[in-house]
Amino acid sequence: MNRLLLIVALACFAVSLAAAVVRAELFGDYMGYTACAECHADVVKGWKTTPHANAFDDLKQQGEEKQSVPGCVRCHVVAMDADGGFIDMDLTPELKDVQCEACHGPGRKHAASQDPADIVARPGEAACRTCHTEGQDRNFDYTVKSRLVHGEK
Ligand code: HEC
Ligand code: HEC
Ligand code: HEC
Ligand code: HEC
Repeated sequence: MNRLLLIVALACFAVSLAAAVVRAELFGDYMGYTACAECHADVVKGWKTTPHANAFDDLKQQGEEKQSVPGCVRCHVVAMDADGGFIDMDLTPELKDVQCEACHGPGRKHAASQDPADIVARPGEAACRTCHTEGQDRNFDYTVKSRLVHGEK
């Protein structure tokens, strides 16, 4: 009898842990680009034509398994090292690829307030350099490349 209670208690604990993980995603600060589309439809449309919008799928060019290698994934998704950022394709498929919030930072507060002060308005070179490192992109030129991030105007 006591043993059965213990098993039930452990099962409840396991379920609550799983629920806690799901909740962290729902209330995390990163939302994914679909949340921006409502008010910035043109920017979303342009971004979709850029290589950033295929960054996760493109990992496969170097082998299907690369999509599961954290050392590769981290620069091909949104905010993998941050709280509320990409975890894996089971938990956070909406945060794959190099989306808006990879450059502009978490958007939940801004999406609710619509206040420009709640979002990084003009991501500087340092934001790009977290991924466009010397090792990955030796000739990175911010002035030229920052004009390309939203696609053709
Ligand atoms: C409910 C509407 C709404 C949503 C959703 C929204 N925004 Fe905005 N955003 C605005 C408004 C309004 C402005 C200010 C008007 C303008 O400058 O166009 C703005 C301005 C901005 C600016 C420029 C800030 C500045 O100082 O010029 C950026 C960058 C931005 N939004 C990014 C995002 C991102 C990224 C998302 C998704 C995570 C997002 N927005 C979601 C309404 C929204
Ligand atoms: C430090 C960040 C970073 C890491 C880690 C990283 N990448 Fe990338 N990756 C980039 C950047 C930045 C580019 C774009 C470089 C450019 O345009 O010259 C890129 C481009 C690519 C491309 C596209 C190439 C093309 O010609 O379209 C592939 C494929 C790729 N990476 C696969 C990988 C794989 C596989 C790994 C792990 C072994 C990996 N990346 C790890 C940042 C990174
Ligand atoms: C690779 C980084 C990067 C990504 C991805 C990106 N942006 Fe930007 N965004 C920038 C930079 C850099 C600027 C400033 C450009 C300038 O000063 O000319 C900017 C400016 C803006 C602005 C204000 C000026 C304007 O052009 O309207 C808005 C709004 C905006 N971005 C929304 C978005 C949304 C929405 C997405 C996703 C669909 C997105 N951005 C994706 C880097 C990025
Ligand atoms: C989260 C990582 C990450 C961030 C942040 C990031 N990029 Fe990238 N960028 C990539 C990856 C990965 C690719 C390659 C995508 C592919 O081809 O699959 C890429 C490709 C590009 C390309 C197209 C290929 C090229 O080199 O011409 C441009 C342009 C670019 N990035 C500009 C920028 C600029 C400007 C910023 C900052 C405002 C920035 N990126 C921020 C990861 C990132």
